Amino acid sequence: MTAPPPLAMLAELTHRCPLSCPYCSNPLELDKRSDELDTGTWVRVFEEAAAIGVIHLHLSGGEPGARRDLADLVRGAAGAGLYTNLITSGIGLDRPRLEAIAEAGLDHVQLSIQDVDEAAADRVAGLAGSHRRKRDFARMVGEIGLPLTINCVIHRENVARAGDMVHEAVSMGARRVEVAHAQYYGWGLQNRAALMPDREDALAAGETVERLRAELVGTIVIDYVPPDHFARFPKPCVNGWGRQSLNITPRGRVLPCHAAESIPGLEFWNVAEHSLADVWQNSPAFNAFRGTDWMQEPCRSCARKEVDFGGCRCQAMALAGDPRATDPVCSYSPLHHLVREITGGTHEGEGWTPRGREQRAKDEPIPLPVS
Ligand code: SF4
Ligand code: FES
Repeated sequence: MTAPPPLAMLAELTHRCPLSCPYCSNPLELDKRSDELDTGTWVRVFEEAAAIGVIHLHLSGGEPGARRDLADLVRGAAGAGLYTNLITSGIGLDRPRLEAIAEAGLDHVQLSIQDVDEAAADRVAGLAGSHRRKRDFARMVGEIGLPLTINCVIHRENVARAGDMVHEAVSMGARRVEVAHAQYYGWGLQNRAALMPDREDALAAGETVERLRAELVGTIVIDYVPPDHFARFPKPCVNGWGRQSLNITPRGRVLPCHAAESIPGLEFWNVAEHSLADVWQNSPAFNAFRGTDWMQEPCRSCARKEVDFGGCRCQAMALAGDPRATDPVCSYSPLHHLVREITGGTHEGEGWTPRGREQRAKDEPIPLPVS
């Protein structure tokens, strides 16, 4: 069976990053700078992506600003006809570089913030002055004339300020804000107990954001990613495995989702050895959970199986130890009690472990920035 074309591709240009966010969803083992794809290979991959139907290209990391060839990469992607979105911490890109990237054809900037309280934001980021730099960066994005989306990750410590994040995004000049509850993959999975908000606080954050969505129509568009551990049904992760999107790691492995390497036994192909068209259609990893034939009960006979696709394969692996299982977040799952155990009670007082230098691929200094 021929898979329909993908819509979006996430290019993880590097795992190097100047920040230490405890909810980092990148894998525990990061790709080294010396293993990263070179400029020419990335541009070839962008051209192949456009040829198989990809429209949106997300340039991510780590911090993509750590790549000195970022403007060349954007030029190559824009030349291939892709819509380019730079997902950045705002740390490491000064004005001349951002202008060069804009001139190369960048379409959109997505800037992450950690909090609205500067001291709290800097503590989560693990970098003094980072929030002030992000405000400077947002202003620079507006002056250059690029559209801006603010992204903020919600967790136990900042859940009461979810509404303030929206107002902060408005003050930063964003047209869009994504308020997303933490997802527990990679490094973030290790810190789950400390990051998970209490149920009442998570639900209150959702109500606040919904109220602001109505109040701020015409001012800012709000995307809200709810905390699926408190939901009745799981999220349709990546809109279904191998249906719409693909991720490429810094060293060129092509993944159906961000955390797919956490599933043992999957065979990932690399862009160094296969064309993207070949990977998309034929790689064993992409075909492992396409369609619905792989499903077990209760998903197999569930009316929602084409709605949420059984939830998240990586979460099923993490919680149930079986990537074919119904995502235990689902209230129909026979293992749903595992989620109730995780979300029950309070985690007050539990500390998180910041993503430290020894875990980050940081074998080259990042040019830190912006006045
Ligand atoms: Fe979705 Fe499977 Fe739950 Fe049905 S049983 S709602 S398909 S996760
Ligand atoms: Fe891998 Fe959800 S993160 S399927």
